[in-house]
Amino acid sequence: MSSDKLSVVVLISGGGSNLQALIDACETGYLNVTIAAVISNKASAGGLERAAKHGIPSQVLEHTQYDSREAFDRALMALIDDYQPGLVVLAGFMRILTGEFTQHYLGRMLNIHPSLLPKYQGLHTHQRALDAGDKEHGVSVHFVTEELDGGPVVRQARVPVLADDTADSLAARVLVEEHKIYPEVVRWFAEGRLKLENGVALLDEQTIAL
Ligand code: GAR
Repeated sequence: MSSDKLSVVVLISGGGSNLQALIDACETGYLNVTIAAVISNKASAGGLERAAKHGIPSQVLEHTQYDSREAFDRALMALIDDYQPGLVVLAGFMRILTGEFTQHYLGRMLNIHPSLLPKYQGLHTHQRALDAGDKEHGVSVHFVTEELDGGPVVRQARVPVLADDTADSLAARVLVEEHKIYPEVVRWFAEGRLKLENGVALLDEQTIAL
């Protein structure tokens, strides 16, 4: 592990295909960061196997073992901070976070959310886009703030909604885009090009036009 690289901790709850995209981007040299650890709140998360396969340390911290959201988030913070990451990447981490947690990582925590924010914060985004009759859907990467899926958006990718789409087919089309834009945004951050300043996301010191 070389110390000049940005150290990243990735939080997951599931299959970890976005984690895989980040691992692949590191291995091809596109992304010059060290994934110091992968942490999951579920022991069954498929992403844990992906981490193991690539020699990345992983930890499971099950939220069910904690009495309160506050207690879990504090334990999670302690675990993350053991790795002293410069960036925390939420990659399918399906937990609502406390204000204490989001404040602690403000400006150094990113999330990927499968909708064109501010549309469809929360769950079931693909079905909601279908139900609304949207012609277009997509994905957003944003800085995490206290407001659920409400932090400043950094990058979006759009996909068409097709007449015969189901939530699954639409999700699959969106996921292809997720795997492109998340490594790109993490790269911007690692290169020092992306920051959160006074609640505004800046890329190369400019506000970001989506
Ligand atoms: C991704 O589609 C991600 O955008 C979404 O969960 C999926 C995780 O897939 N995240 C959220 O819904 C967060 N609110 P993955 O485990 O294969 O990366």
